[in-house]
Amino acid sequence: MTDETPPAPEAQPPAAQPPAAQPLMLRRSEGGEQAGGSFYEQVGGAPVFAKLVHVFYEGVAGDEVLRPMYPEADLGPAEERLRMFLEQYWGGPGTYGEQRGHPRLRMRHLPFKVNPEARDRWLGHMRHAVDELHLPPLQDATLWGYLERAAHAMVNTFEA
Ligand code: HEM
Repeated sequence: MTDETPPAPEAQPPAAQPPAAQPLMLRRSEGGEQAGGSFYEQVGGAPVFAKLVHVFYEGVAGDEVLRPMYPEADLGPAEERLRMFLEQYWGGPGTYGEQRGHPRLRMRHLPFKVNPEARDRWLGHMRHAVDELHLPPLQDATLWGYLERAAHAMVNTFEA
């Protein structure tokens, strides 16, 4: 062979490769990791979490009860903290813990008046944000079930 120019990568399909395996969500590998990756990976990773919190904070920005609760003029840093927390919770990068330490979310919410109305408004914006992700029903239910329970656990007063 004298022609040393290799074919362009896209010129020839690789010789008979088996079709990509579908992730089996219930099977676990030796390390205990889910064979199909973390929930973070299954739903689509960083762009999906970025969209979730961005749409959510668009709702918060226009909410007359929630908006005044956020101490900073710019909601960007709060959006980033929630994104990092959720990414870490669902098996993505551990940046939240590196920057903020243990979440202690209930404690961190004590300075704010999280009553049932605030909770329901928070959940309303979050429901809209989850809808915008158009996740398959099982993933939607998994994510939503967690957010709903977490929001109920965050209530720290019943005063209006
Ligand atoms: C139930 C209604 C809720 C209200 C009204 C609320 C409100 C707030 C406010 C005002 C802050 C401070 C903004 C900031 O500096 O980051 C905050 C922080 C935060 N919230 Fe919530 N929150 C609620 C529920 C939740 C839930 C359910 C989660 C988790 C699933 C959550 C996760 C966080 C996180 C990770 C932070 C940043 C904590 C830090 O590292 O300082 N929040 N929240």
